[in-house]
Amino acid sequence: MNDTKIGECPPLLFFDTGVGGLSVLSETKKLLPNAPIVYAADYAGMPYGMKSEEELASRIPVLLGRLVERYKPALVTIACNTASTIALDHVRSVLNIPVVGTVPAIKSASELTKTGVIGLLGTQATVRQPYVDKLASDFAADKILLRHAAPELVYAAEAKLRGEIPDMNIVKSAMSGLTDQVHGDRLDTVILACTHFPLVRHELAQAAGWPIELIDGAKGIAHRIAHLTKEMSWPTETRENIFVTTGELQPITAYHPSFAEFGIRRFEALD
Ligand code: DGL
Repeated sequence: MNDTKIGECPPLLFFDTGVGGLSVLSETKKLLPNAPIVYAADYAGMPYGMKSEEELASRIPVLLGRLVERYKPALVTIACNTASTIALDHVRSVLNIPVVGTVPAIKSASELTKTGVIGLLGTQATVRQPYVDKLASDFAADKILLRHAAPELVYAAEAKLRGEIPDMNIVKSAMSGLTDQVHGDRLDTVILACTHFPLVRHELAQAAGWPIELIDGAKGIAHRIAHLTKEMSWPTETRENIFVTTGELQPITAYHPSFAEFGIRRFEALD
């Protein structure tokens, strides 16, 4: 058990199915460069977007419970919109440490749009969540919110972080899933409501037929994490950060360079 601890300072644990959480981690690293990190990827459960609410609601709290027991983090960030919109409350009720969620940035989009037409790109599970309906009625009741599920974009982002060139046909069809809808021609702001999608932000911008703001909540989440951990004293230099997967370790080697950018050089399997 001792060999899974990072020095004396409890780590921040980031959780997603795959590499999507890196879009949240990268903003957090800007504020807390030396915070020890455990990055947990539930590759065995990927894709969450295609699973039922029941499956996810039972899987995620159990898995996070095991991860917290093993790594004893100071805080957990669910760096996944699908997991957060379905299981955030339940996870908070079973863990006795702060849990930060990642939910669609509908409020920011509503403040930003000039045309009043907002798009939301997410997984199949996220776009149908009552959590999203509630955010829409609380913060964007006077706006038109177009939703589109783009599950294949998750794999385009995964491919990019393995060093491959993402398939632009997939990226284009994700954007046209919004722009081809009624009112889509007035779209000026798109919420990237899956943490994988900011990883292909550049490709999405290229695929759009006109300038569209592509927004996500990563900066806000990073500030929330920094605020919740402001009493902590972090190490003076970056330590070796940990990646842990529920899946096989071998396929992860292709992602090593992407993780190395975040000082993640130790790879473990959760058995
Ligand atoms: N990155 C996850 C999210 O933010 C989705 C990936 C998946 O479908 O597994 O929703």
